[in-house]
Amino acid sequence: MLKTDYMHSADLFIPLRADFPILSNKIIHHDLVYFDNAATTHKPKCVIDAIQEYYTKHNSNVHRGVHTLSANATVLHENSRQAFARFLNTHSDEIIFTSGTTHGINLVARSLGWKKGDEIILTEQEHHSNILPWQKIRDEFGVNLKILPLNENLRPQWELLPEIITENTRLFTFVHTSNTLGNINPAKEIIRKVRSLNPHILVLLDGAQSVPHFKIDLNDIEPDFFVFSMHKAYGPTGFGVLYIQKKSQSELNAVFTGGGTIKEVTWEKTEYENGPLYFEPGTPHMEGAFASMKALEYLENIGMNRIFEHDKRLTSYAIEKIKEMEEVELYSEGEDICGAVSFNVKGQHPYDVGVLLNNYGIAVRTGHHCTQPLMKKLGIPGTVRASFALYNTISEIDYFIDKLKKCIRMLN
Ligand code: ALA
Repeated sequence: MLKTDYMHSADLFIPLRADFPILSNKIIHHDLVYFDNAATTHKPKCVIDAIQEYYTKHNSNVHRGVHTLSANATVLHENSRQAFARFLNTHSDEIIFTSGTTHGINLVARSLGWKKGDEIILTEQEHHSNILPWQKIRDEFGVNLKILPLNENLRPQWELLPEIITENTRLFTFVHTSNTLGNINPAKEIIRKVRSLNPHILVLLDGAQSVPHFKIDLNDIEPDFFVFSMHKAYGPTGFGVLYIQKKSQSELNAVFTGGGTIKEVTWEKTEYENGPLYFEPGTPHMEGAFASMKALEYLENIGMNRIFEHDKRLTSYAIEKIKEMEEVELYSEGEDICGAVSFNVKGQHPYDVGVLLNNYGIAVRTGHHCTQPLMKKLGIPGTVRASFALYNTISEIDYFIDKLKKCIRMLN
C-alpha cells in the first residue's frame, strides 16, 4: 500500500484520486503508479459519465436538424466551443475542433499556400508530429526547413533567431512544453521577438504538453495557431483544438471540405461558411466535445494555477531525488521543467528499466518519445520518462525512487 502523507503540500490533491476510477486497479498485484501522463492522462468520473450521458440523453447530429434533439445537441456542441474559448481566454470563433494535436498541425500545414523559397523554422526539441508535416511541405513545394539548434542545456538557442529569420520566413513553430524534457519555453517572449524580426511570420505554438499543466492565456501569448489534444488533459481521446487567430484565418484554404462547411453549393461554385465550421467538414466528434467541456469544468473547479503548483512541486521533487542517484543520467534539469522528467540508468537500455518498473506497478514511457532528432543530439536510443498529473503524489515518487534503486541493483 502507498502511504498517504498530507505533510506534503503537493499531496493536497490526494482526495481527488477518488475521481479517477482506473487508479484503483492493481498491476501485477501492486497499486498502479501511473507516471505516463505525457502520453495520455486518465479521466475523471465526470468525463466518463459525460460520454454515457451524451448517448443516453443528447445524441443527435449537430448543425443539421430542426427537431428538438438536434437543436439541443447543437447548443451543447457550441457551448463546448465557448467553454474552450473561456478556458484559453480567447473567442469561440477562433476555436476549431480537431481530432488532436497532429490533426491540427497537419491542417495548418496543408491549408497554407506555399511557394518555392518560403522558409519554415522549427526547434530541435520538436516531436515528430511537429516535424513530419513540415518535411512533407518542404519536399512537395521546395520550401526550406530551418532548425533552431539546442544549447548544451538542451534549450533552443533563441539568441540565434535574428540570424535564422529572414524576409522569406513564412512560419515559425515551437513546442510550448517539451514532451521529452519537460521544459517550458517562454512562448510570449519568443513570439514577440519573432514578430519584431519579421511581422509577417505566422507562429504555431504546440500546446500538447502545456495545456494539462498550466493556465493558457492566448490573448496574452498571441500565437497565430495553437494546437492540443484533450486526451492529455483529462478529456476524451480523439478530440482536440486548433486555435486560429481571427486575423490569420483568411490565410488558410481548408484542405478538407464537405458537409457542414458551406452556405450554398451549386455545380458552378460553393460559398463556404466563415469561421470554425469552414474547417470542420463532416459530422463532428460530438460526444468528444461534450465530454471535453466536462473535463474543462473539472480543471477550472480545481484551478489551473493550483494544478501548476502541484505538478511543478512533484516534478521538482522527482528531479531532486533522481539527481541524488549517481547511477542515473538526468536529461531534465532546470527551474523551467514541469510535468515530465527524462533519465537513463547509466549503461542500461531504457526499455529494460521500464519493464522492471512495471513489475512494481509503475507505468513510465521508455524509448524515443517521438523525438528521434533530439535523441540523436543526445547520442542515445531513448530515455525513461516519468510524467505527472494532478492525481500523482509525493508518496508515489518515493515508491518509484525506491523501486528504481532496486531495479538498478538487479541490472548491475
Ligand atoms: N506525444 C506523446 C508522448 O510524448 C504520445 O508520449
